Amino acid sequence: MPAPQALADATLTRDDMGFIAKLVYEQAGIVIREHKEAMTRGRLARRVKALGLGSVAEYCAYLKTPGAVDEIPELINAVTTNHTAFFRERHHFDHLRKDVLPRLISERSGRRGRIRIWSSACSSGEEPYSIAATSRDVIGSRSDVDFRILATDIDTDILDRAEAGLYPAELFERLPPDLKPLLKFDGPAGRSEVRISDDLRRLIAFKRLNLIEKWPMGGPFDVVFCRNVFIYFDTQTKASILDRFVTLLAPGGFLYLGHSESLPQPHPQLRLIGRTIYERLP
Ligand SMILES: C[S@@+](CC[C@H](N)C(=O)[O-])C[C@H]1O[C@@H](n2cnc3c(N)ncnc32)[C@H](O)[C@@H]1O
Repeated sequence: MPAPQALADATLTRDDMGFIAKLVYEQAGIVIREHKEAMTRGRLARRVKALGLGSVAEYCAYLKTPGAVDEIPELINAVTTNHTAFFRERHHFDHLRKDVLPRLISERSGRRGRIRIWSSACSSGEEPYSIAATSRDVIGSRSDVDFRILATDIDTDILDRAEAGLYPAELFERLPPDLKPLLKFDGPAGRSEVRISDDLRRLIAFKRLNLIEKWPMGGPFDVVFCRNVFIYFDTQTKASILDRFVTLLAPGGFLYLGHSESLPQPHPQLRLIGRTIYERLP
């Protein structure tokens, strides 16, 4: 009896898996570990369907042709994991509110001093909007600081969603009562969706940036969020990105990593000052 079509479609030989893993590593620094192979197969099956191909094997053959350059970003979009949430790992936002922003405001206010925060793997926007909401609450309507957030990700589809600022209303209903009022909306966008207010959206510039490629910005940043993306990289990639964060961070600036992440090795210019919170030494 022939195999059911859906199963046949997702068949991925060792060679094809090796080819995809190498391509994804070269393009995005993401290491596809063996226990993630089944998930990868499922994600590739979506691209197979979108392109009207018959199998993952055909998809791999297509990726090897020169005409497939436009498919590479789609492949990366398909294999990235975008899980995120508003005020995820809340202790970072509490630290930003209590220890970072008041100090920066007192240093920089009065001469329109710049405060810059980078959300470096921002996924669908929940992280930068949580930063914007926290910061707006502390800064209020004062105009004597020049405050901006840069939010970047490699995944172009997820960036479009982030920029639109539209979210299911139920995501907010689950937030703790003290955080709910911080996220401001411009009225309901539909029956079950809400749109983040223009006031918060104006604070953020969304851009595509691949962390393993060249970064166009000059910095300095006062705070860098790099949370839950190092888990996909190997030690060497992490170490080289960390060095570049340190170069872009202002002395006394802060780096927030994700809950299960740590530095690949102690960094001479970073001091651990809290749970996954590092301060750049002068
Ligand atoms: C699990 S999400 C984390 C989102 C958010 N920082 C958080 O902690 O909730 C990981 C994000 O990293 C992005 N990513 C993966 N590889 C990347 C790379 N090489 N450069 C930039 N972003 C990358 C993915 O597209 C995804 O949106």
